Parts: sequence; C-alpha cells; structure tokens
Amino acid sequence: MALNILGNDQPIGRRDFMKACTWGIVGVAIVGMASPVVSGCNSLSGPGNVQADYNVSTLTGDNQALVTSGNGPEGSPLLIVRKSATTYVAISMNCTHEGCTLDAPSNGVMLCSCHGSEFDTTGAVLRGPARNRLTTYTTTYDASTGMVHVNF
Ligand code: FES
Repeated sequence: MALNILGNDQPIGRRDFMKACTWGIVGVAIVGMASPVVSGCNSLSGPGNVQADYNVSTLTGDNQALVTSGNGPEGSPLLIVRKSATTYVAISMNCTHEGCTLDAPSNGVMLCSCHGSEFDTTGAVLRGPARNRLTTYTTTYDASTGMVHVNF
C-alpha cells in the first residue's frame, strides 16, 4: 500500500507545538500489528513544523500505528503506536546512524534506505550500521479531544 507523507523541509521553533492538525488517511500496512491504520497529520502552519499534538482517533486497536506527516524535533516524522486506549508512544523515524528519515514500517520493520539499517516498531535496532535505538518520546492522551500530546 502507498504511504503519503507530506513534504517536510523547514523545521521551525517549538512555539508552534500546540497548533492543531487535521488528518488524512494514507493506509500503510504494518505487519505484526493488528488491523494497521496509518494516518498523516497535516500541519496548519506549513510543512516541516515540529508538532506536539496528534489526532489518534483512527487508531482503534492496540498496536496500530500512524506516521505523522509533520516532522518531530529531529527533522523526521514520528511513528505513533497505540499501546492501549489511553497509552501511546511516539518514536522518531530519524535514523540514528547519520540522520536519514526511515521508510514507513513494512512487516514491522522500518528501513533506512541510506545505508540499510533496520529498526522495529519499538525503535530497537534490527540491523546496522546504526548502533543506537531510535529516540522515543512519552505522550499524554486527552480522551476529551482524542489527541495525543508528544512530550518532546
Ligand atoms: S543514515 Fe540510516 S543507515 Fe546510515
């Protein structure tokens, strides 16, 4: 299936963290995760913005995940994984080898096309040359809005 990640090329400051976002379903299968659903969060203030709040209403089952269309602080999208109805984790898709953006998960593996490193959807290294796991951020879920706040 195709993944539609919107262009992200101009990181901005954290002042825009609290800006809301809208969503578009892009549909990427994540093998090893039940009923995968992947969506993108479209920034209201332009591509490349570092965002903190993401709508996770499309994640209806545990271990479903989405890829944000906006970039996190490291300049790559985030993979947001639902652990339970109220617990989510955000993982940077920025390769820890030399900083390339990882491909969306396929069969539970995120590939770095720069030099071939692979990571699982917990951020662990499956294959080098990367040696360090991906940056993982804690989150806070707001049930009243269906939004996850990523704690950068
Ligand atoms: S930048 Fe990802 S493997 Fe080198």
